[in-house]
Amino acid sequence: MFGKRAALEPTAKPPHPGAPADVARLSPKVEGAASRQPPKVDGVASAAPAGLQPSAKTPVFVPDSRSEDYYQVKTTIFSALIDSIDLAQLAQLDPDSAREEIRDIVNEIISIKAVVMSIAEQEHLLQDICNDVLGYGPLEPLLARDDIADIMVNGAGRVFIEVGGKVQLTSIRFRDNAQLMNICQRIVSQVGRRVDESSPICDARLLDGSRVNVIAPPLSLDGPTLTIRKFKKDKLKMDDLVRFGSINEAGAKLLAIIGRARCNVLISGGTGSGKTTLLNTMTAFIDAEERIITCEDAAELQLQQPHVVRLETRPPNLEGQGQITMRDLVRNCLRMRPERIIVGEVRGPEAFDLLQAMNTGHDGSMGTLHANSPREAMNRLESMITMGGFQLPTRTIREMIVGSIDVIVQAERLRDGTRRITNITEVVGTEGDVVITQDLLTYEMSGEDDSGRIKGRHIGTGIVRPTFWERARYFGLDRDLADALDKLQV
Ligand SMILES: Nc1ncnc2c1ncn2[C@@H]1O[C@H](COP(=O)(O)OP(=O)(O)O)[C@@H](O)[C@H]1O
Ligand SMILES: [Mg+2]
Repeated sequence: MFGKRAALEPTAKPPHPGAPADVARLSPKVEGAASRQPPKVDGVASAAPAGLQPSAKTPVFVPDSRSEDYYQVKTTIFSALIDSIDLAQLAQLDPDSAREEIRDIVNEIISIKAVVMSIAEQEHLLQDICNDVLGYGPLEPLLARDDIADIMVNGAGRVFIEVGGKVQLTSIRFRDNAQLMNICQRIVSQVGRRVDESSPICDARLLDGSRVNVIAPPLSLDGPTLTIRKFKKDKLKMDDLVRFGSINEAGAKLLAIIGRARCNVLISGGTGSGKTTLLNTMTAFIDAEERIITCEDAAELQLQQPHVVRLETRPPNLEGQGQITMRDLVRNCLRMRPERIIVGEVRGPEAFDLLQAMNTGHDGSMGTLHANSPREAMNRLESMITMGGFQLPTRTIREMIVGSIDVIVQAERLRDGTRRITNITEVVGTEGDVVITQDLLTYEMSGEDDSGRIKGRHIGTGIVRPTFWERARYFGLDRDLADALDKLQV
């Protein structure tokens, strides 16, 4: 049934370049393999000039050679291919052999139908068709790129990507919504789930760890909508954050001390502001001897320590059963003799359990939370606890927050697409019903340069004795702390 075999082409990936990372006194005890390449920051795109004129919101169009004609030829050849092979049988083959089979048949179809194509076009077409049949179709070239943070598919005709903090429209298209739906189906079936009209919402994960959300019609009105948060194999390190200006050197040192001295930390920020990345970066300063338990909705963290237990929540199955929530995990964690508990994202009643854990000897625990300021982060914690059905007076909840959280780190994605740490804030105590906080570091914006990049600097607030001073001293880090705070003032 299948055609003859042609010579195989090697598909070796280029080796990953890497250079040893700087190792300072406070650098991670357990070092990662290699430092990562800086992500390509989109140099061309720039925000509209400052001022109050309406910003030009037309998305940047990424040029691509694929024309309307190309799609037509592809559809013709694709239909002929489907007619001549058994896709189910093809799926049984290993990817290389399957590719070869497709190559042979497509070549044959091209010559029978007398399609005029250059060798390069033919190669391109073949690649495209193989991606459709064997992989994630038009998404493949995007998935292969490491500089993309998010892929957003709004129906077959519109695919956006986020590169360097900027959202761009691409020229990638799906044949139609049915093809897109097929690919969504293929993705979610890998985690044993199904997406269709009767269950139109689904979370899944790609084999490389990327997080996927699908929402299909009738809920999404213009075709299946697919959102992919790409998994970055080489997570950013504190050095990278300094290099990108997300934090300055002294601020990075302060974060390192906070991580090492077992402060309880909450990382707050909007979607895509870099919370998880920052959490991952901060875990690098945890001592290699500590037993760490991580709880996540989809495992994203990459801890380098030897003694780590990774837990993941589970959505209910098709019958609506078997769900394991974040709260279940955090509570179970407490029976696992953790030294630190790391919660990927605190969204609900698990907030209560995390605070309790922080309060009862699991100091150095960390988590992220969705909020736009440290103050809002605390309000969110409070409302998560209230909404979780805990009948506690406001005052008690606030005291609990103050007793548990030492530091809130605020991450933000600025309007020029850059990600910055905008506050390192201490939770100091309560005065009456009010929680008192103090900033140790803030980010001061001073304007924009010609290309629309925001100018600003990280600066200390003059605090010389943070409340975790004694804690830092206990870990022999008081001098470093004084030094870092000192440097933040200049
Ligand atoms: N400081 C930073 N500088 C540049 N890119 C960053 C930075 N922090 C995070 N990113 C990138 O931004 C994307 C979203 O980051 P992530 O940490 O997952 O955000 P969040 O958890 O807040 O939704 C990722 O692709 C990540 O690599
Ligand atoms: Mg996250």
